[in-house]
Formats: sequence, structure tokens, C-alpha cells
Amino acid sequence: MQLSTRHLLGIKNLTPQDISLILSTAVQFKEVLQRPVKKVPSLRDVTIVNLFYENSTRTRFSFELAEKRLSADIINFSASTSSASKGETLLDTVNNILSMKVDMVVMRHHASGAPHFLAQHIPAAIINAGDGVNEHPTQGLLDAFSIKEKTGKLKGIKVAIIGDIMHSRVAQSNIYLLKKMGALVTVCGPPTLIPKYIHEAMGVEVSYNLKETLDWCDVANVLRIQLERQNQVLFSSLREYSLAYGINRKILDSLHKEIVIMHPGPINRGVEIDSDVADSKQSIILQQVENGVAVRMAVLYLLSKPPNPENPQTP
Ligand code: NCD
Repeated sequence: MQLSTRHLLGIKNLTPQDISLILSTAVQFKEVLQRPVKKVPSLRDVTIVNLFYENSTRTRFSFELAEKRLSADIINFSASTSSASKGETLLDTVNNILSMKVDMVVMRHHASGAPHFLAQHIPAAIINAGDGVNEHPTQGLLDAFSIKEKTGKLKGIKVAIIGDIMHSRVAQSNIYLLKKMGALVTVCGPPTLIPKYIHEAMGVEVSYNLKETLDWCDVANVLRIQLERQNQVLFSSLREYSLAYGINRKILDSLHKEIVIMHPGPINRGVEIDSDVADSKQSIILQQVENGVAVRMAVLYLLSKPPNPENPQTP
């Protein structure tokens, strides 16, 4: 089995078979990560550069750990400490790095489409680790993995994505993925943070009522308010946002069932989610982080090998 693509630029162009293959390969890698020796030699001759033009904690550590667990050689680049701050273009930076014989590039960039641009210009496999407000495919995959692990399936599962949908690449990747795998998706938040034609464009339901949405869903994926991406005021205050759309114990206790709570991190405690929800047993936030390593191992592993039908790809 192999992926239909050489790069992971987004979920948008993956097939349901690609998604299933990544998720099932990640199950095997999660098993590897439970062993006393958590390392496999799968990427021993592969060199990977992690290009981070935008701040990141979880995603950068997660990719780095996944690469190390697969025995790859890695180089880390962060824009703030590199020649990018001296005016070098993206393509020049990457061509310089590639002349050092790099096989794969993991890239986070503040411009939507930056990894797609690179994929057209360089021969290495590109993995998008978040591009502007476009996509964050490995987050979508690890969220789906976590939902499937917790509930046993994706098909028919009701997922609410709550908060700043407008500025969220996580929302976008989650929606593409969940729809492809047969889940039902509702986005919920203030009208100013939900793109106007999202129902027509992406086939999701839209709700402005948090209580109704929580009553409907099995899983609530709560997003961070992306203050750094808002160039206009889209709600009156964080306090008002929190009163209308914050997930707190009181609203969860008013439901007649226990829903699964997710958040991609970083959390704004007391804004979109309260501490007694984030740290409760219905929250799988830390499992998401744990699963991220296995999912990224699966992606790197599957993209590292040229297709070879005589060599079935198993970890
Ligand atoms: C997200 C991101 O950077 O897109 N975080 C992450 O990768 N875990 C979400 C966010 O910044 O809110």
C-alpha cells in the first residue's frame, strides 16, 4: 500500500484510502512508542530539514521526535535565527539547504500556499506543518486518529468544531478529513468568526448556539482564538467571547451525556476553555499530543519511500 501523493500539502487532495493508510500505519507506530526501545531504523538513510518560519512548540517537537524515533538525520531551521531575517528568499534558503542533500522538508510558514510553492520548485518531499490560514494536515490526521481511538470510528461520528473557524487551518484540515471519512460536522462560533459560505463550500452545518451544538455532538474540538491573525476586531472582548462560547463545567454538566473534549493547543485557559474542562477526564488533549508523534511517524515513513510494489511498506 502506498499514498497517492509525493507530498503532504493538505488534506484537501488526499483520498479516503490515503487517510486510512496513514491512520492504520500510525496505529503500528503507536505500538512501537509503547516499547522500552522506542526507535526503529526505517528512515536511517533519510535526511530531513524542519523549516519553521512561524512559532511552534508542539508541532515542531512532535515532528522532531517522530524523525528521531525513525532514525532520520535532521536539521532544524527557525526563521528568527537564520538568514531569512537578513532578507534571503524562501527559495534561496531552501535551495541552499537542498544542496546539502536533504530528502524531505517539513515546513511551517505564515503564508498560505508556501509549501505548495516549494513543492513546485524542489525535488524533496514536502510536508506542510501549517501554512497561514490554509491547512495543518498532520493536526487533522492526529485529531482523526484520536477520535477514532476514543470512539472506535469516524463514520457517523458527530463532531463540533467550536470557535475561531475563520482563522483556523486546523478547522479547515479537520473539516476536509472528517467529511471524506463520513463524519458529520457542525462549526459553531460567533457569526464574525465563521466564513459566510462555509456551508455551501465545505458541506458543514453552521450554528451560532453553543448549547444546541454541544447537545448534538459526540466530540467537541475547541479552537484557540487566533488573536495574532485578526487585523480587525471581530468580537467585543475576550470576556464576552468566553461568556458566549467558552467551554466550562456548567455547560457540560447541563448536557445529558458526556462528550469528548479536544483542543489542538496552545490553550487560552479561561477564554475558549476552562481549566476544569481542559484537565478533566473527558478531555483528550494530551492524548492528541501523544498521538501526534505516531501520526507524524506514519506520514514521514509513507512519504520517504519511492513506490516499490515488491517491498510492501510495513514499519
Ligand atoms: C495550531 C496551529 O499552530 O495551527 N497549533 C498546533 O499546531 N498545535 C493551532 C493554534 O495555533 O491555535
